[in-house]
Amino acid sequence: MRIVSGIQPTGNLHLGNYLGAIRNWVKMQDDVAAGGGQSLYFLADLHAISMPHVPAELADNTFEMTAALLACGIDPQRSVLFNQTQVPAHAELQWLLSGTARMGWLNRMTQWKDKAGKNREGQSVALFTYPVLQAADVLLYQATHVPVGEDQKQHLELARDIAQKFNNDFASEDAPVFTLPEPIIPPEAARIMSLRDGSAKMSKSDPSDMSRINLTDDADTIMAKVKKAKTDPEVLPSEKAGLDGRPEAANLVGIYAAMAGTSVAAVLGEFQGKGFGAFKPALGELLVESLAPINARFIQLRQDRAALKAVLADGAARARELGAPTLAATYAALGLVRG
Ligand code: TYM
Repeated sequence: MRIVSGIQPTGNLHLGNYLGAIRNWVKMQDDVAAGGGQSLYFLADLHAISMPHVPAELADNTFEMTAALLACGIDPQRSVLFNQTQVPAHAELQWLLSGTARMGWLNRMTQWKDKAGKNREGQSVALFTYPVLQAADVLLYQATHVPVGEDQKQHLELARDIAQKFNNDFASEDAPVFTLPEPIIPPEAARIMSLRDGSAKMSKSDPSDMSRINLTDDADTIMAKVKKAKTDPEVLPSEKAGLDGRPEAANLVGIYAAMAGTSVAAVLGEFQGKGFGAFKPALGELLVESLAPINARFIQLRQDRAALKAVLADGAARARELGAPTLAATYAALGLVRG
């Protein structure tokens, strides 16, 4: 097994990232290490320049996000942890795959449509070709599995389409250049929603900090955010179907289930007939208790920039080595002469 996944270093690591992806990264890191496989996790800093950004903040966020991933349990001894910028093969492979990716495929990406809105003409070219870089990120390492939240599923399908077409066009059937990666999406927390609006996903780019729980929030902030979370006046139902049409209630119950490592049905079994006056404090306490150790490690790790720099440099050196054979095979398959 070869596990590969990434996160943009824009803003804080939030509960959606953690429950949708990072917790699975940590779990899979342990699983693959035991089975002799390899896991690679990276900061997608090259993706972060597809939207307007402040350079000094991107640099700071790259270190902060590195500290946050280490605090969550990514172990640089067992996983390869790095930032894309230090592995130029990501950008090189993106260009090589740009000959295979189709405009029509990229035009259908919902993230492109959402982020561009009505102003497509005014967007950066990078925002449009972003999924090709994402395909390069995983195909470079022959990833077999990619742990992500639901919102990245379509990008992963595109990576498979690009790999398939490239193999068909430029490789023989018995010696494909690329492995087709499988997404790994968690059952209970694939899409954590905003605390202010049950129809919008929890996101780093939401202007309201009250919409998300950051892994760096202290106990009081977490309790306050949960108490202020939007809900409805009904009590919790006994069955999952009773949450239909109640997106905010469904989101909070889903968060509880994911955090406690149980199912929505089990949470409803415990809280059925109770209102949010009882449920919210229980959820707040569960979050505080679960996130406190991560928070404490983060505060310690973020102070030592030199150590974080060393982790990224070491990870990048290993990633460059792991990616080199696929990059060479891609150049060769396309008939590009490298000397
Ligand atoms: P990003 O930085 O937006 O998010 C990182 C991971 O967190 C997941 N996630 C969520 N899961 C559940 N609920 C939410 N509200 C939520 N918000 C975010 C995302 O699904 C993701 O797994 N394009 C990617 C980064 C990337 C990447 C890659 C991922 C670049 N190259 C290659 C996988 C493989 C992104 O912007 O994720």
